[in-house]
Amino acid sequence: MKKLILFSILFSATALVSCDNDNNNGQTTTETELSEEYYSGGKLGTVFNESPYAYEQPTPAIDEQGFTTAFVRGESLFEKEFNSNSSGVRHGLGPVSVRSSCITCHPGYGHGKRMDRYRANDFGNGYLLVVIDENDNYVSSLTGMPQVQAVAPFLPPVDETKINIEWKEYVDEWGNTFPDGEKYSLIYPEVTIPRNAFSVPMPDYYKVRLEATIGVYGTGLIDAIPDDSLLAQYRYEKSLGFNLNDAKYDPANFIKEADGTSHPGRYTYGLTRGTLQNGPGANAIWNITNVTRSNRKYNYITEAYAIAMSQNPDVQKELGKTEKEIYDELMSKDLPEEMSDDDYIEFMVWHRGLAVPAARNLDDATVQRGKELFYNSGCTACHRPSWTTGADNYTGDPLVQGKLPKYPYQKIWPYTDLLQHRLEMINNIRTGWCRTTPLWGRGLSEKCTGAGEHLHDMRARNYNEAIMWHGGDAARSRDIYRQLPKADREALVKFLESI
Ligand code: HEC
Ligand code: HEC
Repeated sequence: MKKLILFSILFSATALVSCDNDNNNGQTTTETELSEEYYSGGKLGTVFNESPYAYEQPTPAIDEQGFTTAFVRGESLFEKEFNSNSSGVRHGLGPVSVRSSCITCHPGYGHGKRMDRYRANDFGNGYLLVVIDENDNYVSSLTGMPQVQAVAPFLPPVDETKINIEWKEYVDEWGNTFPDGEKYSLIYPEVTIPRNAFSVPMPDYYKVRLEATIGVYGTGLIDAIPDDSLLAQYRYEKSLGFNLNDAKYDPANFIKEADGTSHPGRYTYGLTRGTLQNGPGANAIWNITNVTRSNRKYNYITEAYAIAMSQNPDVQKELGKTEKEIYDELMSKDLPEEMSDDDYIEFMVWHRGLAVPAARNLDDATVQRGKELFYNSGCTACHRPSWTTGADNYTGDPLVQGKLPKYPYQKIWPYTDLLQHRLEMINNIRTGWCRTTPLWGRGLSEKCTGAGEHLHDMRARNYNEAIMWHGGDAARSRDIYRQLPKADREALVKFLESI
């Protein structure tokens, strides 16, 4: 993290606003405040920073609520590599792992990059492998997030050198041409893994999809939105006749917290996580690295893997242990704790403490035109501009409850309904249901991560391609965009780059 506060944006934007007001019937204005839309993460969650480190900044709440030191310490658990030592700093990696650190998948704390090959150690490869059967269920001999790294003599469940990613051209019903003649190109991934790449038994049929990272910044603000607001949004879009994933809103399917309470999903494309404290990061710090902690004293592996490794003569010989000993160790529910509770709490302070970069250039005439088009094209039906957070009194995990930064009653601008839709694209995400990705901060992606691709597998190389992939309930919006004159299409994209 580099703390660079750039005041220039604040000043220039204020100047523009004041200018407008000066022309307003000749009335004189004193200092004018920025409009609320600049505060993407609300007053407590926004940072005025558009440097390459814009996604890595603490929220104002971190300093105001006394978490400055914990934030910095927690941050190192995200940024630094874990190792397979049995003691010392960030030890405990393995026996198998998806990656050695969070940041390899979340470069600059943002989304991953589009990749032509799958290597765990290629910086910015944020892809998770999704290996599923003909009914889109995860293959049960592999973990949901299949590992490609192992500490010798163990073998990784998947040999990554055999993974093949091919990018194919897609031609849409208009021959990839706008009515005004401008062309665009669409590509999508086809991923194959041969049977001999797996060290566990595989079913007769399986297929592979890629899921790319979502940005980590601002997830603490999303956490502060009340469940009731999510449910109201679901009912509202239902009343509009949208095709929604109803099963997710059956309380029987809500996601359980450590204390037994439960919540509808709001994180990940799959809406598999209900709170940040029981969320993708809290889970990843265990299952990406396989580092155990007080409430997870077991490995993230499958029984099929434990059987395969314990029966492998090379593994037995190298470890000098019997099949039973190896199996029992791998499957133990009482492994030593590798991460302390204090480290974990600081990690969650950091996680809940990441600010959203302020919006930029909103008073620019082209951006204003783009905003009008965004609202008039039906984009806001799913990319809901703003939400208001609740009291933000998290209860759920006694370990961190009462020890985290809070964001009560903030108006935030993530541009998402936090619901899933089916955009009906070729080689779509598992099940076809995909949460609307927050659009806030995405305009800084190239600066902060070195890449600016979009959609769940990074198939869209720019905003234009991302919009042209929209189908299903979004087809109408896409068609309105398609019919716009080029200058208007560009204005809409400029608006997206500014939020
Ligand atoms: C293998 C690459 C990989 C690593 C390593 C990784 N992530 Fe992720 N992360 C992903 C992917 C892929 C998604 C989107 C997954 C999905 O929707 O199922 C994601 C999603 C998230 C989200 C959800 C954002 C949202 O809006 O829903 C958060 C938060 C997150 N990761 C935090 C972390 C943290 C913290 C770590 C380290 C402990 C970490 N990730 C390590 C790949 C990774
Ligand atoms: C019916 C709901 C819906 C409508 C309407 C809609 N979107 Fe989306 N949008 C989504 C979903 C869902 C995703 C995530 C899809 C994926 O990753 O595969 C998405 C993703 C995006 C992304 C990529 C985000 C990222 O960084 O990965 C952009 C950009 C975007 N939408 C812009 C627009 C614009 C502009 C409009 C209006 C012309 C629009 N959307 C209308 C649902 C919608």
